[in-house]
Amino acid sequence: MTQVENHELSKLKQDEVAIVMVPLPAQGHLNQLLQLSCLISSYHHPVYYVGLATHNRQARIALNPSNISKLHFHDLPNPELIAFETIWDASMHLRDPIASFIRDISSKVRRVIVVHDPMMSYNVQDVSSLPNAESYIFNNISVFSCYIIMCLFLKTSVQHEEELLKKLYSFEGVTTDEAMDLSDSQHPYMDIRSGDIHNTSKVIERKYIDSMEQAELSLNKKQWAIGPILPTKLDYISNKEDVCLDWLNKQPPRSVLYVSFGTTTSLSDRQIKELAMGLEQSKQRFIWVLRDADRGDIDRKVELPQGFEERVKGVGLVVREWTPQLQILAHSSTGGFMSHCDWTSCLESITMGVPIGVWPIHTNQPINGFLVTDILKVGLLVRDWGKREEVVSASTIQNVVRKLMASEEGDTIRKRAEELGEAVRQSTEKGGAFQIELDSFIAHITR
Ligand SMILES: *[C@@H]1O[C@H](CO)[C@@H](O)[C@H](O)[C@H]1NC(C)=O
Ligand SMILES: *[C@@H]1O[C@H](CO)[C@@H](O)[C@H](O)[C@H]1NC(C)=O
Ligand SMILES: *[C@@H]1O[C@H](CO)[C@@H](O)[C@H](O)[C@H]1NC(C)=O
Repeated sequence: MTQVENHELSKLKQDEVAIVMVPLPAQGHLNQLLQLSCLISSYHHPVYYVGLATHNRQARIALNPSNISKLHFHDLPNPELIAFETIWDASMHLRDPIASFIRDISSKVRRVIVVHDPMMSYNVQDVSSLPNAESYIFNNISVFSCYIIMCLFLKTSVQHEEELLKKLYSFEGVTTDEAMDLSDSQHPYMDIRSGDIHNTSKVIERKYIDSMEQAELSLNKKQWAIGPILPTKLDYISNKEDVCLDWLNKQPPRSVLYVSFGTTTSLSDRQIKELAMGLEQSKQRFIWVLRDADRGDIDRKVELPQGFEERVKGVGLVVREWTPQLQILAHSSTGGFMSHCDWTSCLESITMGVPIGVWPIHTNQPINGFLVTDILKVGLLVRDWGKREEVVSASTIQNVVRKLMASEEGDTIRKRAEELGEAVRQSTEKGGAFQIELDSFIAHITR
């Protein structure tokens, strides 16, 4: 431990409650708990962010000075010293350094609250041996999918949800074996937690938050919906030129379909051709984010049908670089989003009041898709999970796009999406559901 940290721990007061954040030490997972740390630190309890030294250095660079000064960073030994192979191995080797840090703090304060990534459950298990420590999981997935996954894990279909579970097509192939193994390895330690925090809004998922709270399912764990935690300022790039936003400025209201499957997903060449033809034949306006990330072979260039970009000129825009997704969804010309339905995309689209064309690709995406289409009724299915071995044909795509963007049914769905988005945005304002939940969590941990 560095001297600075010793000094900070010695400043802790006996009657205080200290909060320790334990993210999964992997790129793409660090930011979530960092955001939450900043939010919680505004309540003036000491907040410690526990990460590998290299990650902590990055985090400090990413934050503005006012946030840095409110957080304490605790460095874990760097990877070389532990010599693990993959992040999954790493997530099983940090138990001792984390335990000793939590123990140190617990001896100095009234109570220690550990908030951690679900995949760090093994590493924080020593909380259970400290009388004044308790832990909470932070979930950045939909509560609905937590709930369904829990039902699958417990292999019991909940009585009054039987109908629902029946309607959900087979969930085979929903997660990879590797992810299942990892979850299996963490699962035994998840019972230690005292509750869950979710990046969702009660306005969206109240029913399933209530279901989660039911004793027989989650062993009476408390649940809070502290979300959506979005960047407060949507106009942060407005003084920069952006191709998509410029283009959107010239289109009629609610007329553009935004098509994006995220950074880590690629479709097959054949599927891309069908998608191109489907979009063209729909005659609807679109922005298509076509990135070929994570393919391994950098040379592969996605082939669009010959002359495609010429033919759709003025109607469709193909972009191959990063796009400001949230700003695009918030733009008044955007009227639909074709998405693979990871929770980030769903939550952003719902919050901005944009209906979704559901095209799930893996993990919990089909479950999120079901939430969007069948429960919230703010979207239409493009890719049926039950037929995931098949290529989605151009004619299917064309039909769904027309229905979503240019039909009475589409208008009804869009109206519902706009109303839901409005309600979600209102819930993040002062005194809304978001603040009530956050206050309630703080009140609970400092009781
Ligand atoms: C939440 O999870 C999604 C999907 O795993 C990820 O893309 C996103 O960056 C996460 N949010 C934060 C703040 O890290
Ligand atoms: C940091 O602090 C500012 C206010 O000073 C706040 O607006 C912002 O959302 C905070 N969070 C992060 C992650 O930077
Ligand atoms: C919560 O979800 C929103 C929308 O997807 C995302 O932008 C934000 O980074 C997430 N926050 C956390 C703390 O995971």
